[in-house]
Amino acid sequence: MKNIFIAILFVFGTLFLSGNLLAQKVLSTKSQAKDKSDVIKQKADVSKETATLSATAGSDAFTGKAEDWFMPAAETIFPALPYSYSALEPVIDKMTVELHYDKHHRGYFNNFKKAIENSKLEKMSLYEIFASISEQSMTVRNNAGGYYNHVLYWSNMSADGGGEPSGILQKHIINSFGSYEAFVKEMTEAAKTRFGSGWAWLAVDLKTKELFITSTANQDNPLMDISDRRGYPILALDVWEHAYYLNYQNKRADYIDNFWKKVNWKDVEARFDAFEKMAGKLK
Ligand SMILES: [Fe+2]
Repeated sequence: MKNIFIAILFVFGTLFLSGNLLAQKVLSTKSQAKDKSDVIKQKADVSKETATLSATAGSDAFTGKAEDWFMPAAETIFPALPYSYSALEPVIDKMTVELHYDKHHRGYFNNFKKAIENSKLEKMSLYEIFASISEQSMTVRNNAGGYYNHVLYWSNMSADGGGEPSGILQKHIINSFGSYEAFVKEMTEAAKTRFGSGWAWLAVDLKTKELFITSTANQDNPLMDISDRRGYPILALDVWEHAYYLNYQNKRADYIDNFWKKVNWKDVEARFDAFEKMAGKLK
């Protein structure tokens, strides 16, 4: 009887130990699988972050400056925002800049790249595409414009912007408009009276090299061959609702008045100077 009792104890003991070992093995396998999945996730996050950085920082060859746009369209990249999302506050709030740059602008860039994929446009420069925009699809027209116009817009502003232009640009503005104040008044008016979505521009006439102010609808710009007066834009003011609505709601006029406090005149002057050097190459 005693032997039978010991035998039963032995059998139950063995079963208990085996069960325990099995449970531990299952737990350990699960834990290893979780660790492995965490590592894969971390690796994915790192590569996603790197992809985002390389997409925004891009190559050193393309920065969005005037001469860079002669590069074949296939080689252009989405340039980094030249400041932080909050740098333009309080004139333009952080969330507006983030959404405008990272969603709207990036969307135009991505759609432009998709639209020219495997076509002859890949080898053409943005300048050449704009000069023949009447022959292109509306998808190319809207997205090429949206991509290019916003690069100008961002670089035309800075955290410590404002003030007045200097040097040769200042002289040309006074010659063309009478005074800096008269120029601001005229461009402000062009922006405020643009019906619907569009842009106001300070541009240099491609033929006469005179400064002029104009406005365009949607994502058009003065470089496009559909423009009444073709010009090289040096200052861009976006008056689409997405540029101001979160902070200003329907008060577009206030956004336009405040825009002048952030204009990066050094960038506008650099574009004006660059035009002199490359005017002959623009068709
Ligand atoms: Fe915009």
